[in-house]
Amino acid sequence: MHKIISFEQYKQVYKKSVEDPESFWSDIADGFQWQKKYDKVLEWNFRDPDVKWFINGKLNITENCLDRHLEKLGNKPAIIWEPNDPNEKNRTLTYKELLAEVNKCCNILKKYGVVKGDRICLYMPMIPELSIAVLACARIGAIHSVVFAGFSANSLVDRINDSACKMLITADGLFRGNKIVNLKEIADIALQQTKSIEKVIVYKRTGSEITMQDGRDVWWHDEMLRAEENFIAEIMDSEDPLFILYTSGSTGKPKGVVHSIAGYMVFCYYTFLNVFQYEENDIFWCTADIGWVTGHSYILYGPLLNGATTVMFEGIPTYPDAGRFWSVIDKLKVTKFYTAPTAIRSLMASGLDFVTPYKLNSLKVIGSVGEPINEEAWHWYDENIGKKKCPVVDTWWQTETGGIMISPIANVTPTKPTFATLPLPGVQPVLVDNEGKELTENNVEGLLCMKFPWPSIIRTTYGDHERCRLNYFATFPNLYFTGDGCRRDEDGYYRIIGRVDDVLNVSGHRLGTAEVENAIDEHPHIVESAVVGYPHEIKGQGIYAFVIIETQVDTSDEAYTEKLKKEISEVVSKIISPIAKPDKIQIVPGLPKTRSGKIMRRILRKIAEGEMSNLGDITTLLDPGVVEEIIKGARL
Ligand code: WTA
Repeated sequence: MHKIISFEQYKQVYKKSVEDPESFWSDIADGFQWQKKYDKVLEWNFRDPDVKWFINGKLNITENCLDRHLEKLGNKPAIIWEPNDPNEKNRTLTYKELLAEVNKCCNILKKYGVVKGDRICLYMPMIPELSIAVLACARIGAIHSVVFAGFSANSLVDRINDSACKMLITADGLFRGNKIVNLKEIADIALQQTKSIEKVIVYKRTGSEITMQDGRDVWWHDEMLRAEENFIAEIMDSEDPLFILYTSGSTGKPKGVVHSIAGYMVFCYYTFLNVFQYEENDIFWCTADIGWVTGHSYILYGPLLNGATTVMFEGIPTYPDAGRFWSVIDKLKVTKFYTAPTAIRSLMASGLDFVTPYKLNSLKVIGSVGEPINEEAWHWYDENIGKKKCPVVDTWWQTETGGIMISPIANVTPTKPTFATLPLPGVQPVLVDNEGKELTENNVEGLLCMKFPWPSIIRTTYGDHERCRLNYFATFPNLYFTGDGCRRDEDGYYRIIGRVDDVLNVSGHRLGTAEVENAIDEHPHIVESAVVGYPHEIKGQGIYAFVIIETQVDTSDEAYTEKLKKEISEVVSKIISPIAKPDKIQIVPGLPKTRSGKIMRRILRKIAEGEMSNLGDITTLLDPGVVEEIIKGARL
């Protein structure tokens, strides 16, 4: 009913969504199960900011993901789980089974004192239990904070402490290709620096030897064995928080993006249905990790709200070989596939020998998310995976937007290589210049903003509303600022260029330059550092670190400097995650700074890109000579 089926219809629906957003969104919201209907659709201002959707509505999102489907779809697979090892049996949970597991998990949470509003941290492998735990939090009214299991103990500490999580759900370990990561060991280190965690529930996945702390740690399987299969979903307010997800910004510390229940639900449902043109027999596979927003919205909530079958994959694209994605697509008869440009580029680099053994004839739609997709990767994906029969939906959105904002609608609106194309209904993008003046023409380039709220817009940053205001709503009055630069071409199609702030996008992972610098500076011999991104063939952006070391260290000793660079990478791994390790490290005598002491990253970026001849005016620098020195030592 809410599915758009022609370009003409898209234009009409889009127009309506702008002219009368409240009636547009309430039509969609009315298809859900409410415990009590909302009194008013929307109240908002971008000044404070204060945005509320479906005011005074009462509901539980899991009733809409699960209970609501039971009568018709009880025996339909909700989740198909594909393990890391292709020889291990995959697991299927029907809607009925998933609900029973979620209820059991709710009863465990309840037994250990979890109540509405508590924060629960999930640090888990990509296994069905992660989905069960997420949904159990939502059902009992606790706020889930999933931390990607690739993050270090330090990162876990920051995230647990920032929102004072009461419980941690984790596993003994996880499988990743041919490696095992001992998650519980990492969690134990983290727990020495947290005060709020009262209980730790541990799922046994790898069988690694671990220590269980008496009175604090309990096994998932022991608890589940005894838990009841019935649980009445907590009644929640539309605007109660559903989850916190930490993401990097331009300042040092990751911020907890908060999404609330009803608006997120409506937007995830609608965008999944339309962008992928969901059909009842689809097998939908989003290859993201649930530790990122893409996994939240398009492995879990979006598909389940539509009653779809969603694939959850534990492994990596290159294990046991670079044909794994394609083999799983054939094995499970995946119809809609959603992945990241970095994965596409890395599989493209492995060569077609890994693709041609597979039929891939179940595919109908293929999608891309997380970073700009370059022309070559777009065509490779279109030709070799989609066989030119599947529209490529290049979906632009952010952790803060909760769901897809600008994207083709498969087979309905046109695609254009490297373009996210047109805004979805209800999404009102504008481009502005540096002064905030709206660029109304086509064929322009500017900063991408939104001038009207959509239901799943960020509500706050956890514990610090001012930070939310400053980050997103203060740059330009009455606009939400995305941090992305963007072009609108002569047809009015949007093409995202990339971040204009100090945020890096490395293999689709967001990292703040300040965050990486702070980590590097922890090395005892580092005096100061500056980090910039540079174009990287597989990762999209690589990390280039310029570091100043203590004067007593002999920089001509190559063995020593190599060792130092290795240590710097280790420090970054330990403090943030291996994903934040610099690709290139250059020891420099100084950094280009303005007279007021601000690092001129623009210059460093040019050097990292190898564009030495085009550095712009450097005469205003405190010490222009330093630039010459840096260029001499550049690692290209
Ligand atoms: C970038 C991921 C170009 C963008 C869902 C954005 C993209 C940031 C695209 C958000 C795309 C995401 N084309 N760039 N299709 N999708 N981005 O919060 O810079 O992890 O601001 O959310 O990724 O990353 P995040």
